[in-house]
Order: sequence, then structure tokens, then C-alpha cells
Amino acid sequence: MIKKCLFPVAGYGTRFLPATKSMPKEMLPIVNKPLVQYGVEEAIEANLCEIALVTGRGKRAIADHFDTAYELEHQIAGTSKEKYLSSIRNVLDKGTFAMTRQREMKGLGHAILTGEVLIGNEPFGVILSDDLCINDGGEGVMAQMVRLFRQFRCSIVAVQEVPADQIEKYGVIAGESLKDGLYRVDNMVEKPKADEAPSNLAIIGRYILTPDIFDILRDTQPGKNGEIQITDALLTQAREGCVMAYKFQGRRFDCGSVDGFVEATNFVYENIYQPE
Ligand code: UTP
Repeated sequence: MIKKCLFPVAGYGTRFLPATKSMPKEMLPIVNKPLVQYGVEEAIEANLCEIALVTGRGKRAIADHFDTAYELEHQIAGTSKEKYLSSIRNVLDKGTFAMTRQREMKGLGHAILTGEVLIGNEPFGVILSDDLCINDGGEGVMAQMVRLFRQFRCSIVAVQEVPADQIEKYGVIAGESLKDGLYRVDNMVEKPKADEAPSNLAIIGRYILTPDIFDILRDTQPGKNGEIQITDALLTQAREGCVMAYKFQGRRFDCGSVDGFVEATNFVYENIYQPE
């Protein structure tokens, strides 16, 4: 029913300069695997096997990562080193990969609209791979959201409770609680001051969107920082129809910030990483 997952990976990653001067932020490794591969594995686990990447200038390494590295693979074929390729080969066996480029970085909403050409008129997942989500031993966050989508058939955003001193980094929702962890959204504010935030529920980088979002995005004016905000488009969608917010099971690491990146690295090294 949902087959496609969109990965906006065009951003500049300025918080990781100079590392991201010529290397995409999404290729930074958490232990031995690039961030974007964790995201793609989460999508495939949810049966979203058609991967749509919105890339930009300087992001070719991402396209190459999801392709055969012919010379390298030929070189290590049949040796003890071949096992190190097993996780990426598994991804390549199960997924297909399509790319388009965002030519100007006009925000996440604009990046999603740029992906319309790859998505068409069907509901789709969105994963921001710099938000690493891990539900150790349980169902991945996107799979949890797909299950909810089957029931409600409307856009769904993943939310997390965050402390007041961090709330101004996020889009924040307000809504009616339908059952434990599930809300029907009636308001959303992008990056509010702590005393203006409508709740402590912050939107993180997992969405399921219905395709009417593209027409809404086309009509959405640039908001905070002159960027087209997905939050503004989602608020319109919530007012005209329905948007759900879902407090997911699992942990999320903000790997777009240095602190979150280091925290994720330690967590994965101690709890997930298995030396081959
Ligand atoms: P961020 O704002 O976290 O990423 O956007 P950034 O701009 O790369 O990071 P900083 O702030 O400069 O350090 C969230 C996600 O949306 C994508 C980014 O690649 C990231 O995955 N994005 C953002 C786009 O694809 N295009 C944009 O115009 C903006």
C-alpha cells in the first residue's frame, strides 16, 4: 500500500563543518555504517523498498553508496573481507534507488516538493537520516507508523517529548489525545519560544504523508528563515483534513548535532554493533 520512502539529503550540514565541506553529512558513519544506510534499512524493514533520494551538489557519494563498487567488490570477492559488505548488499538486494536533485536549498518543505517527481500520487514515508531512530529488538519507527497509517489513512508525524530548553529547535504540535501516544493534531508551531510552545511534543524526522501535501506545499509561502516549512504545510493539511501525531516506541538521536552524534555512536557501539 505504501511502497515509497523519500530521503531529503540535500542539506549543507553546516554544523559538521569542516567534515561536511566535501562529504555529505548523511555519509558520516555511526561506528561502521553511514547514517543514510540506517535510515534506508528502517524503510526496508517497513516494506518501503522504493527509495527516493532528494540529493544536491556534492552528494554523489550517497548515490555511489547505493550501487555496486565494482572494482572494490571484485578485489575482495572470495576473501575474508567480503563479509563486511553483507549489510549494504542486503539493502541493495531488497531496495530500488531513484534520485533527483534539489538545486536550491529552500528548506525541508521544498526538498519534499522536489521529490514529487519520484513519488507521484500515492502516500509515502519520509525519513530524515540525521535523526537516527533505534527500537532495539522491536519494530522500527517507520514500521510502527505504517501500521497506524493502515488504520487512519492520513498523514502522520512522529513526535517525542523534549525538555523546555530544547523546544525552540523543533516543530511542536498540539492536539487531542485519541489513545496512549496518539494525537489528532489541531495546531503546529515551527521553532517556538519555550513560553509560546503549545506542548512539549516535538516533531522528529519521520513522516508518512498523503500526496495532497504536494499541492499544499506549492501554495505554502516561505516561513522561518525564508525556507518552505513542512510544518506550515502540515498545519494546513491538519485544518483541511486530518494529521496524526504519534509518540513512537524507541530512541531517537539527533545526529545533525555533534552531541547527538557522539551519543548515538556510543549507544550503537555498546548495544548494536557486532564485529563481524
Ligand atoms: P537540517 O536543517 O537538519 O539539515 O535539515 P542541514 O541544513 O543539512 O543541517 P545544518 O543545520 O546546516 O547543520 C533536515 C534534513 O532535511 C534535509 C537535510 O539534508 C536534512 O537531512 N534538507 C534540508 C534538504 O534536503 N534540503 C533543504 O533545503 C533543507
